[in-house]
Amino acid sequence: MLTSPLTFHPAPPVNDTPMRRAIYPGSFDPVTNGHLDIIARGCKLFDEIIIAVVVNPGKSPMFTVEERREMLEESLAGVEAGSCGLVVDSFDGLLVRYAVERGAEAIVRGIRAISDYEYELQMALMNRRQEPRVETVFMMAAEDYSYVSSRLVKEVFKLGGSIDGLVPPSVEARMRAKLGDA
Ligand code: PNS
Repeated sequence: MLTSPLTFHPAPPVNDTPMRRAIYPGSFDPVTNGHLDIIARGCKLFDEIIIAVVVNPGKSPMFTVEERREMLEESLAGVEAGSCGLVVDSFDGLLVRYAVERGAEAIVRGIRAISDYEYELQMALMNRRQEPRVETVFMMAAEDYSYVSSRLVKEVFKLGGSIDGLVPPSVEARMRAKLGDA
């Protein structure tokens, strides 16, 4: 019998329930409106998204893991999630191991510009090599947020610039408090 040369063998699913669960990992130092936009878009694809703050991002963060988690919790109230469950968590160690432990079949990452692509592709392929059962799903944020990063938001804010509309008001308030603390 003739078989098609185009046969694909995707890895079996991580969990055998119909629940579609994804991890949205990141530093979230702090969460921006770009992150929230990606979460809202992810809600159209998944039943549950675990927003997972990396414990040791290898950078010196402005906010502690606990503060970053709190800001996410506060900000998620403004996300149109529909029936999608949103869970905030933090993790240490290998992302794909954490994803499997949590029964997630996908990792969501936002891509803003071509410049993000190379780094994201490297991570996605390395993650796939470690754990073929977990797929990476790239999502494009709204154009309005295509230049927004936590790093630039912090830099502009520290230099006295406006970050209005780029982060939720509660995050801006925490940044103001943090800078006042310093
Ligand atoms: O928001 P960020 O800083 O771009 O997120 C990077 C993150 C957290 C996704 C990445 O650093 C990560 O996955 N860290 C966990 C450790 C790990 O699994 N490293 C191998 C990645 S291929």
